[in-house]
Amino acid sequence: MTSNTANSSTSDVPVVPFIPGRLISHFQSKPQEHHGIGWTELWDSGQSDLWDRGKPSPALIDLIESKPDEIPRPNASSRRPRALVPGCGKGYDVTMLALHGCDVYGLEVSATGVETARAYAAAQLAAPSAYNFSDAAAQDQYSGSGPGQATFIVGDFFARDWEVQCRSDDGAFTGFDLIYDYTFLCAMLPERRQDWARRMRELIAPSGVLVCLEFPTYKGLEHPGPPWGLREGIYWDLLAAGGKGMFDDEESVRAATQATSGGAFTRLRYIKPPRSYEVANGTDMLSIWAPRGS
Ligand SMILES: C[S@@+](CC[C@H](N)C(=O)[O-])C[C@H]1O[C@@H](n2cnc3c(N)ncnc32)[C@H](O)[C@@H]1O
Repeated sequence: MTSNTANSSTSDVPVVPFIPGRLISHFQSKPQEHHGIGWTELWDSGQSDLWDRGKPSPALIDLIESKPDEIPRPNASSRRPRALVPGCGKGYDVTMLALHGCDVYGLEVSATGVETARAYAAAQLAAPSAYNFSDAAAQDQYSGSGPGQATFIVGDFFARDWEVQCRSDDGAFTGFDLIYDYTFLCAMLPERRQDWARRMRELIAPSGVLVCLEFPTYKGLEHPGPPWGLREGIYWDLLAAGGKGMFDDEESVRAATQATSGGAFTRLRYIKPPRSYEVANGTDMLSIWAPRGS
């Protein structure tokens, strides 16, 4: 997603006047119930360049390949980890995770988006680009065991009707071992954030993890989206504290990280990724969350 704001809260960064771009203008007068249609209009009119980064997330690649204990990994003696990427766009991260051995579902509200993602995944799974891996040694290592499946579903994240397509072989839907959010929460109207957190809890397996690449962490909270500006405190309020995740001043969003109870998730890790997309200029953060009570 392109964003034309500069940091408005840090005194040593020059403040650039906020000029709404094409994406914001497209959604500006749309009520909440028309947002899904708003995204399909953009796909159908060939405007996915507004958010398309052209490659999978370097931060997620590095995380997966570093094999931390929290992240489920393929295991020769059991089934592959099952992952979900909601609002998967062209399917870069879906395909990359499949190339790293997961069975991955990409969910998209747009049928054109799903068609585009299926074509992209088919080409990449047959002949993967080097950008799917941190280096050639990693590519060799993961290629040895073959890719998992990449499945794309047309559906609304906030509805439950598509979950039936994610049942495992025994016919049950037991949740995902890994869910990855990048530029999905920031694409939602702030009023929908609590529903986003509730759905994440419904969709995660008891031993699963939610990984969020937090973006845009620099954008002024007073500015319209998408993308809407996000902060550590917004994720914390939604997932750890069970709040609405809606703040309009920096002080209260900073203070939000002090709240300790009420939410459905525990944060396992909060990382500044060594690599991420250039557009964030070093401001992206990675957070890893486990459902409480598991
Ligand atoms: C900002 S884009 C990000 C795409 C992708 N994550 C990427 O990095 O390229 C948000 C995507 O979410 C999709 N989307 C929006 N609302 C959705 C919903 N309720 N359910 C499923 N997908 C949705 C849009 O069609 C769009 O492709």
